[in-house]
Amino acid sequence: MSDADSKAMIDRAAAMIAAAERVVVFTGAGVSTESGIPDFRSPGGLWSRFDPEDFTLERFLSSPETRKKQWTFLFEGGIFAQARPNSAHRAIAWLEEQGKLVCVITQNIDNLHQQAGNSPDRVYELHGNMKWMKCLECFERYPLPEMLTRFRESGDVPECGRCGGLLKPDVVFFGESLPPQTLKEANDAAGNCDLLIVIGSSLVVYPAAYIPMYAKGAGAKLLIVNKTETAYDTSADLVIRGGAGEVMTGIVASLRRMGGLCA
Ligand code: APR
Repeated sequence: MSDADSKAMIDRAAAMIAAAERVVVFTGAGVSTESGIPDFRSPGGLWSRFDPEDFTLERFLSSPETRKKQWTFLFEGGIFAQARPNSAHRAIAWLEEQGKLVCVITQNIDNLHQQAGNSPDRVYELHGNMKWMKCLECFERYPLPEMLTRFRESGDVPECGRCGGLLKPDVVFFGESLPPQTLKEANDAAGNCDLLIVIGSSLVVYPAAYIPMYAKGAGAKLLIVNKTETAYDTSADLVIRGGAGEVMTGIVASLRRMGGLCA
């Protein structure tokens, strides 16, 4: 795509945002790869290094080796702890500052939208958050970094300090249902927005991937920013094939040239 073409698409996307009243952003792992966190399905992604089957609730409960594998993943995934928001996260936080953003619906568990400045009560985390471990017996919660230190020092999977129960990351495993209230609020927001912006998701995992369908069903426009094809490209009003950071920064620059959004 020529520079002129990509600039024209960026300006078109900015005009869609300027014209919208209720913008919802829907993100996947692709919005965090520029923060150093691999996504799942790109070459070299997490599912090429770990077996998704090991991340079912059934396996977690039934096998100590799987639990140890998951702690290793978490420890590897300790990259979450060092990760910082990138320019795409900052652009999304800017949209909220401009009073344009109803909410961010994210499949990510890395807490980077909140760190970038989006209000926590406007970030719907469909798959939970890596900040906490939860005891499956007494539901006591523990900060993940503290638990990872214990795992690193002892090599053993930490148990609940209160009741000795199994600790599980406060994230949704395959076979687990999504947090019902969060999912309801996310679906309602998608069904009431007039522009849904999808950033960095292959849109293949349900029920999260119903979000763009609810938005389109309610008459919203759909803008997709993704490096590769997604399952919803054909129903999008505009698809920008590119890096989340570069594209979202370009869109913010275009909106500023238009005089920002508060104007
Ligand atoms: N800019 C734009 N797009 C990107 C970037 C980037 N910097 N990096 C990766 N992408 C795109 C990839 O091309 C891919 O299409 O982001 C998409 C990420 O897709 P997945 O790896 O499938 O991640 P996601 O859609 O979030 O997966 C959904 O699947 O395994 C479960 O629970 C897991 O929440 C996850 C869910």
